[in-house]
Amino acid sequence: MRMIIQNDYEAMSTWTAHYIVNKINRYNPTPDRPYVLGLPTGSSPIGTYNKLVELHKQGKISFKNVITFNMDEYIGIPEDHPQSYRYFMYLNLFDHIDIPKENINILDGNAKDLYEECQNYEDKIKEVGGINIFLGGIGPDGHIAFNEPGSSLTSRTRIKTLTYDTIKANARFFDNDISKVPTTALTVGVGTIMDSHRVMIVVNGYSKAHALQKGVEEGVNHMYTISTLQLHPKIIIVCDEDASMELKVGTVKYFMDVERFNLKPIEL
Ligand code: GLP
Repeated sequence: MRMIIQNDYEAMSTWTAHYIVNKINRYNPTPDRPYVLGLPTGSSPIGTYNKLVELHKQGKISFKNVITFNMDEYIGIPEDHPQSYRYFMYLNLFDHIDIPKENINILDGNAKDLYEECQNYEDKIKEVGGINIFLGGIGPDGHIAFNEPGSSLTSRTRIKTLTYDTIKANARFFDNDISKVPTTALTVGVGTIMDSHRVMIVVNGYSKAHALQKGVEEGVNHMYTISTLQLHPKIIIVCDEDASMELKVGTVKYFMDVERFNLKPIEL
């Protein structure tokens, strides 16, 4: 595991965006050899998306040969609902970059057959050769995508019932009205994320400090699905200082020490 601890959200987002852009450019994707990204929604990645858009506008990155798969989507809210994850992705990223529409994959929470939708998603990820980088965030209870506490650590894309904690946390996007938050979602599984070549998690704010501590300093545990990433060969956590607040001083010092030459954004 690598952990990059940055001073604040802005620095965390810049570091993450530069890392992704550098990886895509080095790979030099073509139509026959596209670069495949897994992408999250939520407030955590917005800074990274803003930076990616900025770098695209500066001509430093093209997404023409990039394919994306989103992590999750609510079940039963219209596609054009401002809180649907599809809407979020177009608003914050896709509408501002040169990615072809046909390269964008988002689970359809209104599909007639949700089981088939999930299986097709898994098949499509395989078909394109797997995911190069899966970017993610975490919930305050340590969930990744919508893999809520107690999720199987080998789970695949499927239907999930959301916990009260998650519904409460996400009510801020639904006029703070818990009754408006969907109670089910489609989500990639922990196993789906673990199959990616590389996983990057952005974690900011004190509200995530407990989950980060559990995920990094304690053992692999299905009550904090983020902790499974300890078993991944290429996992990078990029966090801000606030999110690191519950870590032991020794843990922070260790990661700061081994990463001391890597804390500046990668030159593009
Ligand atoms: C939701 C999403 C997760 C996301 C989490 C945290 O539950 N399914 O993918 O990581 O929210 O969101 P935020 O970044 O807004 O705190």
